[in-house]
Amino acid sequence: MVCAAPALSISILLLQLLIVAEAGVPTHGAGPVVPAVIILGDSIMDPGNNNQIPTTVRSNFPPYGVDFPTHKATGRFSNGKIASDFLASELGVKETLPAYLGTKLSAQDLLTGVSFASAGTGFDPATATLASVIPMRKQLEMFAEYEERLRTLVGEEKAASIIAESQFVVCAGSNDVVQFLANPLNNRTSKGIANYSKFLMQSNSRIVQDLVGLGARAVGVVGLPPVGCMPAQRTLVGGIHRKCAHQSNELAQKYNRELRKEANRLTAKLQGTKIIYLDIYSVLLDLIEHPKAQGFEESKKGCCGTGVLEAGVLCNSLSPPCSNPSQYVFWDSYHPTERANKVMVDKVVKDYLHFLQ
Ligand SMILES: *[C@@H]1O[C@H](CO)[C@@H](O)[C@H](O)[C@H]1NC(C)=O
Ligand SMILES: *[C@@H]1O[C@H](CO)[C@@H](O)[C@H](O)[C@H]1NC(C)=O
Repeated sequence: MVCAAPALSISILLLQLLIVAEAGVPTHGAGPVVPAVIILGDSIMDPGNNNQIPTTVRSNFPPYGVDFPTHKATGRFSNGKIASDFLASELGVKETLPAYLGTKLSAQDLLTGVSFASAGTGFDPATATLASVIPMRKQLEMFAEYEERLRTLVGEEKAASIIAESQFVVCAGSNDVVQFLANPLNNRTSKGIANYSKFLMQSNSRIVQDLVGLGARAVGVVGLPPVGCMPAQRTLVGGIHRKCAHQSNELAQKYNRELRKEANRLTAKLQGTKIIYLDIYSVLLDLIEHPKAQGFEESKKGCCGTGVLEAGVLCNSLSPPCSNPSQYVFWDSYHPTERANKVMVDKVVKDYLHFLQ
């Protein structure tokens, strides 16, 4: 039964993030916009941290990675690059952003940033526990450890200035929405949902404040995508016509409104910081509703297998992918294709670059 597939829903994702224009050139002339990109989050931003931990929420096997530069499945939940990679490249930092775990980090890696993201995680500790993945708080601890290594490498003062100038991104919450609404034991009345939305927003805000406490100054907080329109949600909740799951989208929009306000509040409260809310809801919804306008053909099914359910371990060598992934918005039933990731990041960077560092 599909509903018994929490590991699947977990692998969900968030969609995306940010950033920018074309191929690492643009707006800023020579040189990177920021010294480093540092990311906390879930599968949209996980370059393979989950490969190093005991969880079933992983994607380090074909057909994942078929279009990645190395054509290897790295643990990224897509056919190619993910949002964190495009973000790093569009900010002129590097072509791909490595995972913190499992990478033998060179001095250059430490100087230019990594991702601590873990597919399946969320702001609610229960979400990470259910998927046996890395909780957001633990990702903060990993960042503190990274910072210590950076200090050892370049000294206290230089490390502090790199961190202060780096672009941080926090991107999670989709898995929380899916898990919360899937469990009938939760209080899913409108008040209960409002309470949960606030709880998620406040958990996010605490993560951001703790990052600032550790020296971050520029933090992009990514809002939720239209979670209910992900192919698996349509299948599980959308009825025979596979409509978008209404309640998931409502919760996402409610949360996004609160997060936007909170970002402004934190920027005003925490001197010298820029906490920016990054909207991906409208960007992705537009792609889903008007795929042809951006050269896509299919936005309701993923490219992997039947496209209605396969993700993570269910998207494997027995589920042949479509032949034209660049015409699909979704690669699997939760995660965008490389091309959709790029379209989203391009848009976000275009909209927000002037607010970033
Ligand atoms: C659901 O949550 C709301 C607010 O958090 C609370 O007022 C209400 O009593 C709860 N309902 C149930 C059935 O627990
Ligand atoms: C509000 O949500 C939090 C987090 O899920 C939960 O622990 C708490 O019991 C909820 N409160 C009410 C009144 O529903």
